[in-house]
Amino acid sequence: MKRVAILISGRGSNMKAILDAGLAARFFVLTNNPAASGLETAKQCGAQTAVIDHRQFPDRAGFDTALARQIQDFAPDLVVLAGFMRILTDTFVHQFSGRIINIHPSLLPAFPGTDTHRRALAEGVKLHGCTVHFVTSDLDRGPVIAQAAVPVLADDDEHALAARVLEQEHRLFPAAVGWFLDGRLRLDGRRVTLNAIGAPPAPLLYPEPR
Ligand code: GRF
Repeated sequence: MKRVAILISGRGSNMKAILDAGLAARFFVLTNNPAASGLETAKQCGAQTAVIDHRQFPDRAGFDTALARQIQDFAPDLVVLAGFMRILTDTFVHQFSGRIINIHPSLLPAFPGTDTHRRALAEGVKLHGCTVHFVTSDLDRGPVIAQAAVPVLADDDEHALAARVLEQEHRLFPAAVGWFLDGRLRLDGRRVTLNAIGAPPAPLLYPEPR
């Protein structure tokens, strides 16, 4: 059985999509935030959980060391950042190099960082979306695994656009986790391909093609 550690900081809807995807894996959900509502969801889904409150540590390195130790004890095949709102140190990222992935709510490399939906609206882009990528010490710049695109509509506000993107996140992230666990992702420089097919994972489009 594969082992997956999922790091969350908040509601954990992406985490839930992964837990509900029927993947043959054991899950360990960790959070830096004792008040994260996703923690209860994780327990209800039967996942092992842990809270490592970053406020209990004098500095980022201390927190990262404690977090890494708990994850290493679980010996995961994959570490998943699902709305984890702490920047991780290089030391942490290097320990899990090639087996740590994140979801970001924009079509990277556009709109790295925070407030992606507001910035997309302000730029007037016509397509927006989400990206699953390998995590490197270069924030939001790791190799892209897969992306899903949605249209930006004339009457969109941040809330409407975020909801449209989130729906796609919930399709894209479990798919990418499944590909990784099945050993289908190959990383060659910055390019990720699906093994056996040798093609990049097809982008997910909105609405879903029938
Ligand atoms: C998602 O939009 C994700 O892309 C971003 O943070 C949000 C987390 O939402 N990294 P949730 O906690 O998975 O509901």
